Amino acid sequence: MKAAIIGYGKMGREIERILKERGHEVCLIIDLDNAAQLDAAHLAGIDVAIEFTTPATAYRNIRTCLECGVAVVSGTTGWTERLPELQELCRERGGAMFYASNYCLGVNLMFRLNRQLAAMINRVGGYNVRIEEVHHTQKKDAPSGTAITLAEGIIENLSSKKGWVNYAPGIEHAANRVERSEETPADSIEIRSVREGAIPGIHTVTYESEDDILELRHTIKNRRTLALGAVVAAEFLCGKQGVYGMEDLLK
Ligand SMILES: NC(=O)c1ccc[n+]([C@@H]2O[C@H](COP(=O)([O-])OP(=O)(O)OC[C@H]3O[C@@H](n4cnc5c(N)ncnc54)[C@H](O)[C@@H]3O)[C@@H](O)[C@H]2O)c1
Repeated sequence: MKAAIIGYGKMGREIERILKERGHEVCLIIDLDNAAQLDAAHLAGIDVAIEFTTPATAYRNIRTCLECGVAVVSGTTGWTERLPELQELCRERGGAMFYASNYCLGVNLMFRLNRQLAAMINRVGGYNVRIEEVHHTQKKDAPSGTAITLAEGIIENLSSKKGWVNYAPGIEHAANRVERSEETPADSIEIRSVREGAIPGIHTVTYESEDDILELRHTIKNRRTLALGAVVAAEFLCGKQGVYGMEDLLK
């Protein structure tokens, strides 16, 4: 695969390493200093471009790739209100694009397992469910977006749960906060947020009955998993037409 990297920051550098490890060719690297080189001439012969830049630049970068007929994988967050516009352009032009806000394959597998498990628990009954997310102390928001997605997956499939609350002792600005665990209503999922050390992210969904405990847990070890997911998405996209996301990759 002949690849272009757009955005040579933390993700772009990790993606370069993984592309090379997997035997791909990195033919073009675009960052701020040579952004003007993102054009048809430089993109000629590229099979896929992988874009991890900034919310202000992702739209233009992806649009340029699509206009030049180059398949594009993007993971830039914070701009996605304009994503449907580019997906439409991609379809019109018979192009190829892949977008995911989280490329960690394990997290996306967990989302799936989480929905399936909630549907199974809905049939058997007898369990209460809670979520715990543990992150480094610099993390500003609580609960994590991943924990919210997990809660939403449960709410869609488990009829006893209608919403979620956040028990986040010692964390300011927590959304849907309860001050004490005991305040969690029976029809809400308690998301407990913990901040300690330099932990990149641990998510645990726990079902507890009177007799046993069943846990689904994902632990992220480093950003390599995110970069690997983006490269696997690029391999998947290569030679295809259409608009794809992680659900398509996992099918
Ligand atoms: N989807 C996921 O799984 C996932 C994972 C990690 C990060 N992200 C997102 O990816 C983006 C990048 O993350 P990062 O950690 O690599 O950030 P970063 O700040 O380390 O790197 C961004 C790079 O983009 C460059 N850039 C800015 N404007 C540009 C332009 N017009 N053309 C080309 N390059 C340009 C910057 O100079 C910088 O080198 C962020 O939006 C982040 O939230 C998504």
